[in-house]
Amino acid sequence: MASTKEEKWVFKKLWETYRAQSLGAALWVAVRWLYGPFVEFARLLPDRGLMADFGCGKGVFANVVSFIHPELNIEGFDQNRLAVKVAVRTQGIRENIKFQEFDLRKALPAEKYDAVSMVDVLHHVPRDNQKSVIENAWQALKPGGIFLMVDIDDRPRWMAWTNYLHDSIQMNRPYLVKRKDLMDMLTSCGFVIQKQRASRSLYVPHIAFLAVKG
Ligand SMILES: C[S@@+](CC[C@H](N)C(=O)[O-])C[C@H]1O[C@@H](n2cnc3c(N)ncnc32)[C@H](O)[C@@H]1O
Repeated sequence: MASTKEEKWVFKKLWETYRAQSLGAALWVAVRWLYGPFVEFARLLPDRGLMADFGCGKGVFANVVSFIHPELNIEGFDQNRLAVKVAVRTQGIRENIKFQEFDLRKALPAEKYDAVSMVDVLHHVPRDNQKSVIENAWQALKPGGIFLMVDIDDRPRWMAWTNYLHDSIQMNRPYLVKRKDLMDMLTSCGFVIQKQRASRSLYVPHIAFLAVKG
């Protein structure tokens, strides 16, 4: 489940954070953990400043980031009220992490954030709205701000299909985007892609882009 010492430590903290709510919440996190190298993605983010986590869901990725970067302030946004309720309960007494219900098709305050993350979200957004969500990340970032976008990769094909079936059962139809089209969307919004990294966990292929607001 977790391999490096740091991953084991992060997983233990996540488990304890969600176990305080319920065993079901903790088990759900354990399953989510298997889907991606979240510690590796979180490491790409800055140590300080203010970050928005777009599509925070129950707050798993935002919490991973807060454990790894304790001096980074994090605001998580998601339109799913029930998921946000779970995320809010993980805040505890911490002041550097907050969650709120919000539809990311609407704009956040301009140039407020040093970083924006969006992990496994875009394929949940209907095609007609995908570009405007990325544009909203762009306008919410300060000049020079970092955008970490992680989504389902289109290769290897068998994994992309297995994941498509999984998502279709869980949430109707996912709106998967090809790697090249993701890059086009980022650059046409004004982002400069600095790094891209493909990874595989279980049956989920991920592509991570680290982009800068130029
Ligand atoms: C797989 S979850 C991602 C969870 C989270 N990023 C994590 O890694 O723990 C995808 C989330 O995107 C959210 N989402 C999709 N469209 C959205 C929108 N327009 N505004 C806000 N959230 C949205 C869904 O509600 C869902 O919680």
